[in-house]
Amino acid sequence: MIKYDNVSLTCPVNGKILDGLNFEIDEGEFFVLIGPSGSGKTTTLKLINRLIEQTDGDIFFQDEKLNNFDIRELRLETGYVLQQIALFPNLTVEENIALIPEMKKMDKTFIEQKTRALLEKVGLEPEQYLKRLPKDLSGGEKQRIGILRAIISNPKVLLMDEPFSALDPISRTQLQDLIKQLHKEYNMTTVFVTHDMNEALKLADRICIMKNGKIVQLDTPQEIKNNPANDFVKEFFSMKEV
Ligand SMILES: Nc1ncnc2c1ncn2[C@@H]1O[C@H](COP(=O)(O)OP(=O)(O)OP(=O)(O)O)[C@@H](O)[C@H]1O
Ligand SMILES: [Mg+2]
Repeated sequence: MIKYDNVSLTCPVNGKILDGLNFEIDEGEFFVLIGPSGSGKTTTLKLINRLIEQTDGDIFFQDEKLNNFDIRELRLETGYVLQQIALFPNLTVEENIALIPEMKKMDKTFIEQKTRALLEKVGLEPEQYLKRLPKDLSGGEKQRIGILRAIISNPKVLLMDEPFSALDPISRTQLQDLIKQLHKEYNMTTVFVTHDMNEALKLADRICIMKNGKIVQLDTPQEIKNNPANDFVKEFFSMKEV
């Protein structure tokens, strides 16, 4: 579904940030990028919604070159969840969630019903939460709303950049379970960045381990666990977080 064909990014100041990436992400796959700070995970992710453009190589999205897409369309088709969710502070929970579906001209009644159903699904009572402002939500609640906002309009791809790393361990576990369940239900192609190997092992269909803008190993959790490519990969298992 998404194909990186010899993709590199060279920056005049920092040199090679990404170096010859070749891989494919399958339709419906939960694909996890992991690696130390500065290894190029966020950059690799942001190429997909063209917040960053590569300097060499091509990325294909459903067999079409990404460069041929209209940027606005592309952004509407790629849900994006970040470590610190940026909800619009002056809009209620309901208005925040409805923003993208409204831009996509989805039916208002449908949006309302789906918002309620999704809130219930993530354990937030609609009557209590619909009219709240973001400032009256906890960190974990904000992340939940951020996830709902990203998935309500059925984007073709869900991009998540360390979405749970700012949360306490209990909320983190709950949201990992939630995203796993949502993925099972909607089967949405997901690209997920993390520092945490336990998180990667729990969620991923395949894990892509990066170092210095290159892929060190790309395989299923089981295979990476059983046959780590080198000492660098092995080290990830001896650390809880890198
Ligand atoms: N706009 C930019 N201009 C120049 N260099 C950049 C830019 N953004 C990132 N970099 C550099 O590119 C490299 C990869 O950054 P990136 O943010 O992709 O890493 P990361 O793996 O996501 O790290 P972290 O785990 O800390 O989020 C780093 O060396 C960083 O300094
Ligand atoms: Mg990053």
